[in-house]
Amino acid sequence: MKLAVTAASGQLGVAIVNEAIRQLGSQNIIGIARNPEKAVHLGLEIRQGDYNNGEEYQNALKGIEVVLLVSGMDAPEKRIEQHRNVINAARTAGVRKLVYTSIFGKPGKCAFDPIILANRQTEQDIMDSGLDWSIGRNGLYLEADLEYLDHYFKDGKISNCAGEGRCAYTTRDELARAYLDMITRDELNGSVYNLAGETITQQELVDAINLVYGSDLKFESMSVEEYRRDRTAAHGDVFGTIISGIYEGIRKGAFEIDSDYRSVTGREHISAAEYINWYKLNH
Ligand SMILES: NC(=O)c1ccc[n+]([C@@H]2O[C@H](COP(=O)([O-])OP(=O)(O)OC[C@H]3O[C@@H](n4cnc5c(N)ncnc54)[C@H](OP(=O)(O)O)[C@@H]3O)[C@@H](O)[C@H]2O)c1
Repeated sequence: MKLAVTAASGQLGVAIVNEAIRQLGSQNIIGIARNPEKAVHLGLEIRQGDYNNGEEYQNALKGIEVVLLVSGMDAPEKRIEQHRNVINAARTAGVRKLVYTSIFGKPGKCAFDPIILANRQTEQDIMDSGLDWSIGRNGLYLEADLEYLDHYFKDGKISNCAGEGRCAYTTRDELARAYLDMITRDELNGSVYNLAGETITQQELVDAINLVYGSDLKFESMSVEEYRRDRTAAHGDVFGTIISGIYEGIRKGAFEIDSDYRSVTGREHISAAEYINWYKLNH
């Protein structure tokens, strides 16, 4: 199989490429990146591809059988068009199958809606494309929280507006394992899978961190409005609204979703405490 992984310079792209190298061998994988120099360290053929440039993507996908499309990072409306460029390029280039890394979440609950809905549109575009397909809806990255551990320890607390809402988290490495199943096993074609671990509250996340680090963090519950003001002051309107929208979504149950991880991979997803333990040993 000739597999192309898009956004090969990004963190999820790298995790998927590394898992693909382990399972398929580097000679069968091509990385695509808008800035190829950021992906040469992967040790495989890297082709140039910007989601904004359909023609460039057609060239990048020549001779490729399966494409793993990592969702983009632009504003929601722009993402839809960028993903369409890749889907159309895949059809023109004769790609057989497209696997897409979408986001999970129930829309209608929070300011994160535009991102969820843009992903749903891309899912529909892929289903309508005539290509074989398999779609994963990723849980929230636990790593993204742990990157703030130093701040949490300094403040002695984790503060956000998630309240007692439950959220299914995942990690990029766990996702990579599931995506390799979806890439290689055609019996998983034609379905959408929620890829995440068990659902936990912020208090349970704090408890898991305290257990692993022997710390004494507290969870401070903020109102949605208070947290939105806090995040927009720190990150500006666009990203502040997205970040606070995610925690508002957790509060309202938008990410309390049952996982299909076991039915895709045949095993349980790593628990939050297990991952935090691994993270501590490796950072
Ligand atoms: N589930 C979650 O919790 C969560 C959280 C954040 C994001 N996401 C989504 O998951 C995706 C992957 O996450 P990640 O951690 O790998 O993010 P990341 O490390 O920031 O990587 C994003 C990747 O997208 C590439 N990219 C952005 N715009 C592009 C364009 N126009 N054309 C081609 N490539 C483009 C970047 O290329 P450069 O290296 O050149 O910038 C980079 O390789 C994100 O893009 C986002 O859609 C999910």
